[in-house]
Amino acid sequence: MSAGVPEGVPEFPPGFLWGAATSSHQVEGGADERGRSVWDAFAEEPGRIADGSTGAVACDHYHRSAEDTELLRRLGVSAYRFSMAWPRIVPEGRGRVSTAGLDFYDRLIDGLLEAGIEPVPTLYHWDLPLPLEERGGWLARRTADLFADYAQVAVDRFGDRVLRWITLNEPFIHMALGYAFGVHAPGKALMTGALPAGHHQLLAHARASAVLREAGRRVLLTDNLTPVEPLRDEDDGDRAAADAYDALHNRMFLDPILLGAYPDLGAYAAAGAGPLEEAVLPGDLDEIEGSVDALGVNYYNPTVVAAPGPDDGGLPFALPPYTDRHPGTPTTAFGWPVVPRGLYDLLTGLRRSYGDRLPPVFITENGCSRDDAPDDEGRVADAERCSYMDGHLRALADAVASGIDARGYFAWSLMDNFEWAEGYTQRFGLVHVDFDTGERTPKDSYAWYRAWIAGQNRDSPR
Ligand code: BGC
Repeated sequence: MSAGVPEGVPEFPPGFLWGAATSSHQVEGGADERGRSVWDAFAEEPGRIADGSTGAVACDHYHRSAEDTELLRRLGVSAYRFSMAWPRIVPEGRGRVSTAGLDFYDRLIDGLLEAGIEPVPTLYHWDLPLPLEERGGWLARRTADLFADYAQVAVDRFGDRVLRWITLNEPFIHMALGYAFGVHAPGKALMTGALPAGHHQLLAHARASAVLREAGRRVLLTDNLTPVEPLRDEDDGDRAAADAYDALHNRMFLDPILLGAYPDLGAYAAAGAGPLEEAVLPGDLDEIEGSVDALGVNYYNPTVVAAPGPDDGGLPFALPPYTDRHPGTPTTAFGWPVVPRGLYDLLTGLRRSYGDRLPPVFITENGCSRDDAPDDEGRVADAERCSYMDGHLRALADAVASGIDARGYFAWSLMDNFEWAEGYTQRFGLVHVDFDTGERTPKDSYAWYRAWIAGQNRDSPR
């Protein structure tokens, strides 16, 4: 695909943020220069990470942030979403603050601002300080207060230069993969016993939101959201399963914020959903309701849901491959279906569900993994990623045209990085990273996205 302005690029609203995203544990490295997190300990356990790797060095962004800021500047983005590592700023999770940690993010933020790029930090992208996990992690209510203390430290230091803050990244995925199924850190397989880890994250978000708003800052929560469909429309069991899955994946993290109540999780009672009721104390939902100024949406793919079978552990749903309902749908290297229209369906579905309570949205992640490698000339030809982004951006434009108040789009990811339990085997970057040397090579998709952004800024060249 050529790097010229893509054909018929739709226009987005003035001031729309064009960005790219990363997260601390996935790119920073510099592990000896911060406190330990749950991901350090988890990755060191044999068999946890597909290629036996860790995030100890990753992209070495901690030592190469100036080079990475230059990559962002050349890309032409107006915003960069990164995360601050709680264990880099507060190494034990509470108490002592690290000057070196604060200085690192100071340099990063100042470099971004000098390059004309808005810093959009996420306070927490899954790298919980290990000492807090040893005291119960997100199963412990106290973690919510410690998170608010950490938010206070961050906003005191950076609030003069950072307007928009994302509190948490994807509390559903963190709860489900980290505490229910045990495939992410901290590796707990508690099934519905994980539900309090969801509630305590929402409480942490709400308490941090109060801190950030007190400082006059704007607050987002980033959720992983997916449009859900039953495997067979005419099957009552599949339809009930789809509702139950939607309640857990999407609504458990949106309803409390937008409606002030949890959705009906009665379908989970047989699997023991009781712990959630015990975790929610009087007043919690009042704190949580209305605690965002905008919603961060991470969209990767829709989900097909079927009635559960005997092997589904008492859960009220099963997740068959998307292609069981939609044969022939292309998939990414991760095996995730590529369905750009799902982004339109998701956003318009949110408006149907929440009406005027739906705040402005930012797409805070969207992207695809490929098995990328430079060819003999050093070029990384990732045409599928270009067409993935093209399709999703056009679906987003359609959603905007239908009245959705979308204010930004962040490509996941600026560069290849530590893809959690997959280690370095799944590459999501616009920039290729050689993990032996740290060398960065912009892929074709980098040039494609630069042209797309330049096409948007036709009248105001930066
Ligand atoms: C996470 C990212 C991750 C991406 C691709 C999102 O769930 O926020 O950290 O790399 O998906 O798996």
